[in-house]
Amino acid sequence: MTYQVILPAAGQGKRMGAGKNKLLLELNSVPVLIHTLKVFEQDNACSRIIVAIHPQDEEEFKALFIKYNVAKAIHLVHGGKERQDSIFNALKTVETDGIILVHDAARPFISKEHIYRLTKVAEDTGAAILGVPAKDTIKKVQDGLVVETVERSSLWAVQTPQAFRISLLMEAYEKAEKDSFLGTDDASLVERTGHPIMMVEGDYDNIKLTTPEDIYFAEAILKKRSF
Ligand code: CTP
Ligand code: MG
Repeated sequence: MTYQVILPAAGQGKRMGAGKNKLLLELNSVPVLIHTLKVFEQDNACSRIIVAIHPQDEEEFKALFIKYNVAKAIHLVHGGKERQDSIFNALKTVETDGIILVHDAARPFISKEHIYRLTKVAEDTGAAILGVPAKDTIKKVQDGLVVETVERSSLWAVQTPQAFRISLLMEAYEKAEKDSFLGTDDASLVERTGHPIMMVEGDYDNIKLTTPEDIYFAEAILKKRSF
């Protein structure tokens, strides 16, 4: 069982407000980008890593691959305006079929065990995503007014990686482009093809570093793991 992975890393990190790509911020003195990359580099099942980057980060990223001895070949593609554009650019460079994972470079705490479970389900069914049951009560609000309380037991917070048969993901991206559909994750594009998608339970540590307080959570997760 092998898979390829696309790591979208071409964002600007605006909500983090660090004045640079948030993937260059360090946790335990190692950039977030390298934390994420190392998980896939060290996984023997991962046959190819494609990283979508912003042209302005290219030199700095390449220098980090050397500094941190990233041994596996990293295929770089330039990203686009939206995350979806970055992933589509990366997907177009994939020639074979098989399973592809899409994983936000901004989620450094993904575990090998969850990658394995997810990939296995995707191999059997064609499409699987990682998520966790919602912990908060979620309400629908319009113009400051509570409209309804959504039944929590059916709600899941979705993470990455998301894993798909490559031909299915390609079909989904081509359809989204044709329909000018912009989704917030890859599964939402695949849903539009009618193909069923399996939910695989992940873990709450697999956070995405988005706003400054996420750095505190990340440091706490690292501390927990070092015990
Ligand atoms: N990403 C990308 N191409 C874009 C936008 C985002 O490859 N045009 C990547 C980011 O680098 C990140 C992942 O997609 O690894 C998830 O996006 P997000 O958390 O929104 O990161 P940013 O877009 O960098 O942050 P912000 O939205 O706050 O600017
Ligand atoms: Mg963004």
